[in-house]
Amino acid sequence: MKPEISSHERVEFLIDGKVASAPVGTNLIDAIRMNGVEIPTLCWSVGLEPALGTCRVCTVRKNGREVAGCTVQIGKGDVIECGASDLRNLRQGVTELLFSEGNHYCPGCEKSGDCELQSVAYDQGITHSRFPYKFSHYDLDYSGKDLMIERNRCIHCKRCTDLFVDDEGRKVFRFMGKGRKTVVEMDLKLEAEMSKHKKKEAVAICPTGAILFKGQGFDRPIGTRKSDSRSSK
Ligand code: SF4
Ligand code: FES
Repeated sequence: MKPEISSHERVEFLIDGKVASAPVGTNLIDAIRMNGVEIPTLCWSVGLEPALGTCRVCTVRKNGREVAGCTVQIGKGDVIECGASDLRNLRQGVTELLFSEGNHYCPGCEKSGDCELQSVAYDQGITHSRFPYKFSHYDLDYSGKDLMIERNRCIHCKRCTDLFVDDEGRKVFRFMGKGRKTVVEMDLKLEAEMSKHKKKEAVAICPTGAILFKGQGFDRPIGTRKSDSRSSK
């Protein structure tokens, strides 16, 4: 029988040499944030479980080893490194690669200002990618009844394919193809049947502007979106 763990039970650990604490079993990124240190995340955010571990922008060092922080829990006495320059550089590099691999033209994107990829880049002070841009060709998919997929903006995070289900619990999105040709597709029949509310959820689960309502531009005016103030700096 598993020993019962009280939700009040806490563990102590170190973040960049400072003593910190969090409830037993807390997701490592959550535990770090509870102690006032911000680490970027993209494929994971609070409430999106299980962690997918696909983007790696949350890389920290746990007891001397680099880990995707969202995929592990904090442990008693763990030595966590977040702020070392090599780790900051690594997280920035991973984020920049996402921009280099896709075709992200933020000023013309309906999600601009509300895009998690864009926010994560601003938070890390990224102004451009150090890596060559690939300018790969991706098709847009307008075949949904209400939703479209702008594959130029897909970062293959798996949020839609692994964590999103329709009102009946059925998966609507899936990956097709292999390697660099992998693209997201949606089940058109299920998409057509989905409630408006579920469709909004599908748009919201995508951290970029890859899943959108057809024919809908900016639904909130410039100046009221979460990244607006940062984008104008
Ligand atoms: S469409 Fe959006 S949610 Fe789905 S894999 Fe691509 S970026 Fe992630
Ligand atoms: S947020 Fe941790 S791997 Fe993506």
